[in-house]
Amino acid sequence: MNAPAHAVHAKTADAAVPHAHVPLIAWTPELSVGIEEIDSQHKTLVDLLNQLHVAIVERHGARDAAEILERLVDYTRIHFAVEEALMRMLDYPDYEAHKAEHEELVEQVYQLRRKVMVEGKPITGELLFFLKRWLTEHILASDQKYAPHLLSRGVRAQYAKPSWLQRLWARSSH
Ligand SMILES: [Fe+2]
Ligand SMILES: [Fe+2]
Repeated sequence: MNAPAHAVHAKTADAAVPHAHVPLIAWTPELSVGIEEIDSQHKTLVDLLNQLHVAIVERHGARDAAEILERLVDYTRIHFAVEEALMRMLDYPDYEAHKAEHEELVEQVYQLRRKVMVEGKPITGELLFFLKRWLTEHILASDQKYAPHLLSRGVRAQYAKPSWLQRLWARSSH
């Protein structure tokens, strides 16, 4: 079950404080695309947004929030590159449209980062709600669509070996 709407609809970070214990995004089976590697990358993105939420409601400070936002930008670019490579290599017919959507999503998160880090805008509940939709709507509406194609072209639902990307990411974020 996702966080109650009022927790993320809040106009200010202050208004969201009582809900610090409720994750901004709860991972649910509906978010799964049925490919373990992709799910694990999506879980990393969910985790980063939840970390950002906690940093805001527990007032960890602007620097912490900016660092998480920076990691969100970095990991989003890595994740999109992985998806695009898979779609391109396996001839996904809607590759161009999906890539264009990624470009728009990256642009949105860049603008957000600029507003927060350059213009000093606060990260509000409204903004967190935007990021929640930014991620979940893309997974539900677009990523879900490529999964059957990739699976039909031999992508394994589960991986036999640990993911180098997750290991690399875990190492770089400590
Ligand atoms: Fe994705
Ligand atoms: Fe995608």
